Amino acid sequence: MTDYPIFEHDVIVIGAGGAGLRAAIEASANGVSVGLICKSLLGKAHTVMAEGGMAAAMGNVDDRDNWKVHFSDTMRGGQYVNNWRMAELHAKEAPDRVRELEAWGAVFDRTKDGKILQRNFGGHRYPRLAHVGDRTGLELIRTLQDHGVHQGIEVYMEVTVVSLLKDGGRVIGCLAYEREHGRFRVFKCKALVLATGGIGRAYKITSNSWEGTGDGHALAYDAGAELIDMEFIQFHPTGMVWPPSVRGILVTEGVRGEGGILKNNEGRRFMFDDIPDNYKNQTASDPEEGWRYVQGDKNANRPPELLTRDHVARCINREVKAGRGSPHGGVYLDIAWIKEKLPNSVEHIKKKLPSMYHQFMQLANLDITTTPMEVGPTTHYVMGGVRVDADTQESSVPGLFAAGECAAGINGANRLGGNSLSDLIVFGKRAGEYAAKFAQENQAGTINKDEVAAKAKAALQPFEREGGENPYAIQHDLQELMQANVGIVRTQDEMVEALNGLDLLRNRSAKTFVPGNIDFNPGWHTALDLHNLLIVAEAITLSAIERQESRGGHFRDDFPEKDPAFAKFNFAVKKTEDGAMSVSRIPIPEMPDELKQVIEEMG
Ligand code: FUM
Repeated sequence: MTDYPIFEHDVIVIGAGGAGLRAAIEASANGVSVGLICKSLLGKAHTVMAEGGMAAAMGNVDDRDNWKVHFSDTMRGGQYVNNWRMAELHAKEAPDRVRELEAWGAVFDRTKDGKILQRNFGGHRYPRLAHVGDRTGLELIRTLQDHGVHQGIEVYMEVTVVSLLKDGGRVIGCLAYEREHGRFRVFKCKALVLATGGIGRAYKITSNSWEGTGDGHALAYDAGAELIDMEFIQFHPTGMVWPPSVRGILVTEGVRGEGGILKNNEGRRFMFDDIPDNYKNQTASDPEEGWRYVQGDKNANRPPELLTRDHVARCINREVKAGRGSPHGGVYLDIAWIKEKLPNSVEHIKKKLPSMYHQFMQLANLDITTTPMEVGPTTHYVMGGVRVDADTQESSVPGLFAAGECAAGINGANRLGGNSLSDLIVFGKRAGEYAAKFAQENQAGTINKDEVAAKAKAALQPFEREGGENPYAIQHDLQELMQANVGIVRTQDEMVEALNGLDLLRNRSAKTFVPGNIDFNPGWHTALDLHNLLIVAEAITLSAIERQESRGGHFRDDFPEKDPAFAKFNFAVKKTEDGAMSVSRIPIPEMPDELKQVIEEMG
């Protein structure tokens, strides 16, 4: 342990996407020293995959919008198992956070009178997504990065955390290795914020990059924190399906926000076939009305392509299964059709969706201004994560905070598109503020050298074995297993099969062998990631088995209806004393009357 360098800060933030950067900025602004650890290079984060915009009820395009409508849209999208306090804070604070970004230099598309332009997205009643073309997440990261580096935040790039360190019950640091040379590093702090993003790499088809292995979820779980809502996985309806090498890459919902329509191989707009009851009064009855909505007609209802993601993904799945899909197992997403309506459609598409234009041109040799895209669902986001206090973002473990995708609550059973970017900046700020406060009120703890030595030794085990399992093969099998058995449509039998499969994979992962040495060794990194993937896969599967109903991102073929009894609690998973995973029910506190009234008012 004495050989491992120790880096000491008041606050350590793990993860440098939108939530991590925003937390680091806020903690630093509160006068404490901050270390920011990124698994990749700074700026490479899943945040950039939220392309279409950040949701904030600014009312720039439709002045009927306000926090109350945003709050009730978020609760309805989450099917009322959200943490209502988080949904309230988010809806109230998002506009200020967006204006703050603007003041820090973020570029946005503009209305004719110079305000931040807002576009339509699924489940949002009014145009609400502040955006810059289809590169909003990228702009958010760029702005926060520029702002953060001038505040003296220490950035540790290409460093992966293997374990949190505790003193008594409190988190006081972490053990990490730097990816280039595999050397261990000890980080010591008074408060620690997890902002590690999602778990998409537990599935075969995903919009997540290689970093999305549930690290924060697993670190928190191992440290004794609870994870909630893990059964709720968001399958974004539109990922690329062809060519195979790019399967899963995101096709922004912004395409549908700009008028893109979904068709099956019979040329039919199948989304009109199935409108959920609770959206019937807000969904267009014919294509003309849908187009008028996209064009900003305040009296028109949204096209069915802009229903919530869980619903759209299931409809696509149904078409494909019924043999009405496209040649490569998706359906058609057509934005080219707007040439019938707009004389300048080609310029319009290139201006509003520049990344999509280039993505399809370069990766699929397809011109989206003339030709429909082939798309299908892709694992995009996990609604579940570390259970946190709504106001402070502190977990049940003292000194441990979480924000962004690896924290849970705001989204309930399903997240509305665009709510993640605003979640990152609203709750990233809060996490940073309260972590700084915690650091100011508490002394540093003592690092246990034996614990560090034992954890480092365990991490090096894959080098010690003679022969053994290839970590890539285990990762591959895990992704196949989860995709096939705990995907968009679930059944008890398949999920039990998944649990059995996970047991076998856990045994195999205890025998991984990696050749070579610790200098940049991706096989070793993959072997270590397996620990996290197995935890999140088990948490998802156990929670999904327990929720015997269908709600939001969790659909069960054997329980296809929503059951009001399941609206009363969230499922939480926790590590027991003997190291097993337990699932329990956490009652959802009664919503205050004033918020109930807001939901009633909004219809
Ligand atoms: O479709 C998108 O642009 C993704 C946005 C989001 O996940 O919030």
